[in-house]
Amino acid sequence: MKVLAIETSCDDTSAAVVESRDVFGMCTISRLKDHANFGGVVPEIASRHHEESILSVVSESLKQAKVDLNDIDTVAVTSHPGLIGSILVGTSFAKGVSLALGLPLIEVDHILAHACSPMIEHKDLNPPFLSLVISGGHTSILNVKNLKEYEVCCHSVDDAVGEVYDKVARSMGIPYPGGAELDRMALTGDPFTYKMPVPKIDNFSFSGIKTWALNISKNISESDRNNLASSLVYGISNYVSDKVIKILNKYDFDKITVGGGVACSKVLRQVLHKKLSNKGIQVYFPSPKFCSDNAGMIGLLA
Ligand code: KG4
Ligand code: ZN
Repeated sequence: MKVLAIETSCDDTSAAVVESRDVFGMCTISRLKDHANFGGVVPEIASRHHEESILSVVSESLKQAKVDLNDIDTVAVTSHPGLIGSILVGTSFAKGVSLALGLPLIEVDHILAHACSPMIEHKDLNPPFLSLVISGGHTSILNVKNLKEYEVCCHSVDDAVGEVYDKVARSMGIPYPGGAELDRMALTGDPFTYKMPVPKIDNFSFSGIKTWALNISKNISESDRNNLASSLVYGISNYVSDKVIKILNKYDFDKITVGGGVACSKVLRQVLHKKLSNKGIQVYFPSPKFCSDNAGMIGLLA
């Protein structure tokens, strides 16, 4: 069954042709740089970009997969959660295609798609598993029971990790989105320079950590920039990984998946591998193009 999948929940416009776990064509247009002046995604600008890009990403994904619309069996689209204007562009387009061609339309949960995204490249990976979804909009740990059902074990009560990285990076003069650059700086700094406060609540909380880092960043010397990045990124990666272990101890899982833009973080990968490998827990990450928002994961789940 060939699925034409569409993802427009935030700022990335993405389309893919997917058959089972194989992504035969995928095109993603990211216009994040156009939001840089505002230090974050502006919903109205994002939805206008989706309108401009959606036709070309769909055409390109069909071209890459060497198929045309007549070869498609099902249309799939991210229906929630996301920016409402952005979601409307994708769902309206997908409904149009499904009505015109008389094809079924499958609505897909974006968070569950991130949680299952490592399944694209790990062909024998299947739920049940625990999942850490960590991006600019979400930081949650999920108990994924099957491809339709999950339970949220822990979620952020305020900021998401990517949001904290982007805001702290911006305060250090790094262009938005600065998460990837902060992660690179962290690898060369000393993580023990500053002691990050760790919230003592059951859920995640990152706004206090953000304020702590922003305050230090205001008067930071050139030589301490990498040290702050390191203290923050290692601090958060340890905090998140310890929470994962705490929740893993409650369940009987032997595997965990990680998805979302922050899953690209080399520091997070290093810390999670180190903490989980000696517990016999297998960690599955997607490659970078399937970490950030993409239609491949939507087609897979559909
Ligand atoms: O999943 P995503 O593309 O969009 C949503 O937020 O839904 O995630 C984007 C976030 C941004 O905050 C960005 O700074 C962060 O992922 N990010 C990273 C890295 N690459 C992207 N954070 C840490 N290390 C990275 N290598
Ligand atoms: Zn996302």
